[in-house]
Amino acid sequence: MDTLEAIKRRRSIRAFRPDPVEERDLRAILEAARWAPSAGNCQPLELVVVKDPKVKEKLMDAAFGQPFVGEAPVAVVVCANIERTASRYGRRGEELYCIQDTAAATQNILLAATSLGYGSCWVGAFDERRVARVIGTPPHVRPVAIVPIGKSAEKPERTPKRPLEEIVHEDRY
Ligand SMILES: Cc1cc2nc3c(=O)[nH]c(=O)nc-3n(C[C@H](O)[C@H](O)[C@H](O)COP(=O)(O)O)c2cc1C
Repeated sequence: MDTLEAIKRRRSIRAFRPDPVEERDLRAILEAARWAPSAGNCQPLELVVVKDPKVKEKLMDAAFGQPFVGEAPVAVVVCANIERTASRYGRRGEELYCIQDTAAATQNILLAATSLGYGSCWVGAFDERRVARVIGTPPHVRPVAIVPIGKSAEKPERTPKRPLEEIVHEDRY
């Protein structure tokens, strides 16, 4: 599947079959995250791969009970190692760049999962402190997204997107 096809085919998937994610595929998905751009190539990305059902259940609770977080065979917690970016770029690094860097990595995960035939969803609604406690991150490592990944058990319609004409501004806003 080429990149543009993966971009257009990707949907947020919120129902998963119990089949495992092949190790080779999981590695390819995590590799895709690793190759994302980052400000000054500071690479603040840290990935916590959760497969243990008990840990996934705690993540689900921390994500306000969104059931598919616990149901997916794998949940990847995408984290920003703030120190790596802040040491070079100060406050802008801490508040903006390391979040943008991890967002770019998250999108790579979604697209790689799509191109390998897996469903996934970007989950941002969670109690950050609870997630940090569950996965044991130190204070300078901030959980930014949870991405459940697995074989899809649903085929959602494409979600409406604003037309390009409404989004694109020529020369000035
Ligand atoms: C930053 C961010 C946070 C999100 N958090 C959640 C979430 O907590 N739960 C959820 O079900 N979907 C979440 N989503 C997925 C969006 O709801 C979804 O992308 C949107 O409805 C468009 O659908 P699509 O992804 O199928 O195009 C999140 C997406 C983003 C980018």
